Amino acid sequence: GKLFKVAVLPGDGIGPEVMAEALRVLDAVEKRYDVTFERTHANVGGAGIDLEGRALPETTVNICKASDAILFGSVGGPKWETLPPDEQPERGALLPLRKIFGLYANLRPAIIFPSLTSASSLKEEVIAGGFDILVIRELTGGIYFSQPKGIEGEGRNRVGVDTMRYSVPEIERITHVAFQAARKRGKKVCSIDKANVLSSSVLWREIVINIAKEYPDVELSHMYVDNAAMQLVKWPKQFDVILCENMFGDILSDEAAMLTGSLGMLPSASLAEGTFGMYEPSGGSAPDIAGQGIANPIAQILSAGMMLRYSFGMVEAADAIDQAVAKVLDGGYRTRDIYQEKAGEKLVNTKEIGDAIIANL
Ligand code: NAD
Ligand code: IPM
Ligand code: MN
Repeated sequence: GKLFKVAVLPGDGIGPEVMAEALRVLDAVEKRYDVTFERTHANVGGAGIDLEGRALPETTVNICKASDAILFGSVGGPKWETLPPDEQPERGALLPLRKIFGLYANLRPAIIFPSLTSASSLKEEVIAGGFDILVIRELTGGIYFSQPKGIEGEGRNRVGVDTMRYSVPEIERITHVAFQAARKRGKKVCSIDKANVLSSSVLWREIVINIAKEYPDVELSHMYVDNAAMQLVKWPKQFDVILCENMFGDILSDEAAMLTGSLGMLPSASLAEGTFGMYEPSGGSAPDIAGQGIANPIAQILSAGMMLRYSFGMVEAADAIDQAVAKVLDGGYRTRDIYQEKAGEKLVNTKEIGDAIIANL
């Protein structure tokens, strides 16, 4: 059978709790398909700081380099928020991982499961019939990474500086990812920018228009990010693929997630050239509910499914995971974040919904 090496980085807060369920799903996939997932656990984020003295220990980077993919939980929390910014879990581990492995294409599919239409924060008539949005977020450029960056000067004279830069090749490659994805689905790309204000957006729009000429079968539209935030809650069905620079994609993907019922439902794939990728929930370490065993593990489980689909070419197993999740939701299983006290719903904890998903695989 096939063997894939997976670096397992659970991280902080609910990370380890939801990761445990995703790993049990991988165990179940091993039993049903002729495959072995050789897993190596490594510390990252606050766990890296506490156990090895830094957010991204060298051993962790090396384990990732020796793997076919990274399965990532989430990092961060109040305990580490007073450290110097570059030593904190987010800027000291998550962002460097994205950069080191060239993970420039972040795919965040916001799909509403039919049985969850009433869990969405939108009115049922707005989402009737469902929607299927793929947010494609540029992940290694823009305001997150550009120089100069930092706090300059002293005392009251200090100035906080961030810079948003995009080069032509950076815009080109993420635009190709968006159009190629659109080709395989609704054949529409909506490119998000702020070209009425930002120079990086003026260039972004110009390049997107150029690349679009190579995809005459895909319809291109443009939207300012403020309008896009509004249109998402007004009529999400108008969107197919949403193409964004890094920070706009961060913000709009959380918004899209909530339309599906909970941030705990939204997986993500961060892809490099080739088949290597990092797979993680779009949400964070949820310190408000960590340690209680009640977090929704579906985003983490669907992220593992995306790993099978995009890095390992295991489309059938990935589909089986998506279907098992849908069945469990149809069966009324709900973690607290998607529970609405309606007839037919069963309030369950992290492990119980994991059990149900595995039973339906
Ligand atoms: P968050 O995503 O952790 O939480 C936002 C809200 O969503 C909370 O109410 C939380 O309980 C809920 N939520 C998120 N995931 C859930 C799940 N699986 N099940 C049920 N409810 C869930 O965002 P935040 O509170 O802004 O950030 C908390 C920490 O996480 C910060 O340190 C932040 O930097 C970090 N963070 C990390 C990542 C990552 O590692 N990829 C992503 C986002 C935030
Ligand atoms: C995400 C998170 C990260 C981001 C943070 C934790 C650095 O919000 O993955 O969406 O902003 O990219
Ligand atoms: Mn985010």
